[in-house]
Amino acid sequence: MAFDPMLQRQIMGRFATGVTVVTTRYGEQISGMTANAVMSLSLDPPLLVVSVDCQSNMHGHLTQGQCYAINVLKQDQEDISRRFAAPGPKDFSDLKLTAAETGAPIFVDALAYVDCRVVEVAPAGDHDMFIGEPVAGETYEGQPLIFYSGQYAQLSNFGG
Ligand SMILES: Cc1cc2nc3c(=O)[nH]c(=O)nc-3n(C[C@H](O)[C@H](O)[C@H](O)COP(=O)(O)O)c2cc1C
Repeated sequence: MAFDPMLQRQIMGRFATGVTVVTTRYGEQISGMTANAVMSLSLDPPLLVVSVDCQSNMHGHLTQGQCYAINVLKQDQEDISRRFAAPGPKDFSDLKLTAAETGAPIFVDALAYVDCRVVEVAPAGDHDMFIGEPVAGETYEGQPLIFYSGQYAQLSNFGG
């Protein structure tokens, strides 16, 4: 019998993650999507990956843009995470944005970012894995937003 995808979701929900907004630029358009299926895939050569639902709008935008920035959210950015988890066009108007190499939007107030060029797209069931070569990135001080068991959380013992 096939493994229950809802059980898979519950199990992996016990794997606490940070929260990111993955952004891209295609022509004059920008878009973004909340994502936690992001990973450092290789260090030599440096590669990252984001797993993107083939049904999402972001999938088409990444296919057109061939680049993305992973913006790691701070604990006070839950509202941004919720906004970018809703399907459809995203409102960037109140966010302080910059760009690095690819032009994908970078959140000035994020905890870290990495700007990538897409080098490969690997199919994986109902998702595609967008493998990216990092071309710029930075880390900043602050505390991360956490996603655990379908809920937002904070690190309770961060900073001692
Ligand atoms: C915490 C969190 C993590 C998510 N991670 C991913 C992810 O890694 N990949 C993905 O395809 N969708 C992920 N989603 C769902 C997308 O954010 C959601 O489908 C969004 O509506 C896509 O917008 P779009 O269809 O306008 O591109 C996540 C949602 C949340 C709340």
